[in-house]
Amino acid sequence: EKGGCEHFMLKEMYEQPKAITDTFSPRLKGKEIVIEELGMSDEDILSVKKMMIVACGSAYHAGVTGKYVLEGMARIPVEVDLASEYRYRDPLIEEGTLMIIISQSGETADSLAALRDSRSRGAKVLGIVNVVGSSIAREADNVMYTWAGPEIAVATTKAYSCQLIALYLLAMKFAKVRGTVTDQELEGYIEDLKRIPEQVEMLLNNKNRIQKFATRYLAARDVFFIGRGIDYAISLEGSLKLKEISYIHSEAYAAGELKHGTISLIEEGTLVAAVLTQEKLYQKMISNMVEVRTRGAFVLAVTNEGNGEVKRAADYVIYIPETNPYFTNSLAIIPLQLFGYYISVGKGCDVDKPRNLAKSVTVE
Ligand code: F6R
Repeated sequence: EKGGCEHFMLKEMYEQPKAITDTFSPRLKGKEIVIEELGMSDEDILSVKKMMIVACGSAYHAGVTGKYVLEGMARIPVEVDLASEYRYRDPLIEEGTLMIIISQSGETADSLAALRDSRSRGAKVLGIVNVVGSSIAREADNVMYTWAGPEIAVATTKAYSCQLIALYLLAMKFAKVRGTVTDQELEGYIEDLKRIPEQVEMLLNNKNRIQKFATRYLAARDVFFIGRGIDYAISLEGSLKLKEISYIHSEAYAAGELKHGTISLIEEGTLVAAVLTQEKLYQKMISNMVEVRTRGAFVLAVTNEGNGEVKRAADYVIYIPETNPYFTNSLAIIPLQLFGYYISVGKGCDVDKPRNLAKSVTVE
């Protein structure tokens, strides 16, 4: 049942190339993005003034990435909220707000409550959901399914990766209709999207190297993940992956926030994972890496192939293949998933069923 893998999590990580392809291919028609299930005409799309993304856990992290991609590509304002916060804060929903609820299970209690609350306030709700026919899928006005297939491991991998893809597609669709990308740019994005599965595969095949690295950190007490912009979003997910299955305390920080408090936690030997995939932010990130390294941190960097300067500030480098800056999270997450996985395996933890956690959080 685990397809020859030791754990469902590994099997599901390996299913990512296929899951990603299954999620984008039905929505690519030549040079067009067609998302029929959106149920929105071009006119409807143009009438959207703002988006609100609401979700929990990793789905929330996908939403944070979505904010950067949607705002950057389609130039539309996006708010992202944790469902457990959103539902109790008497949210303001103006005319022209599109609510997006992201959920693998489609049963998360807070996300479902947020959906009901926003519908009662008159918002139109789009669900980005994995489980077909789940409560969120049934109650949303429209559903865009992620075609990840059943996910068994408590720590999400392939469903999260498909949520990113769904958000890219949405951003591309809105960008096209709103005229914020040229046809040529859009074609480039489509080409890049189509290359993600094989690039993910390549990164997965690098697993032995990550495993070797991970075994050096089985006794780590704290790990910090830092990034800026879209790389901050991936830091959040990388940190959650590690802590939930390995029980090592980890935190993600927007790198620019380090000196506002967190840097005092850096000691000799503390592992800092720095993600830098945005060329325009390389220099800023490198300064932050130098800052923590000067204080004794061991710096693991995840960056683009061809970043020649990273070695100046990193002790260990993992390269991701080239894609456009909006899609880098889909690649950078792979080594971070593998890192969390191998630490968990190395420590002898229950990888697929970490303590105190449930796959579907149907209680508040
Ligand atoms: C982490 C994880 C959780 C879920 C969260 C939301 O690996 O799986 O953080 O992402 O509980 O669950 P869904 O997506 O089912 O609403």
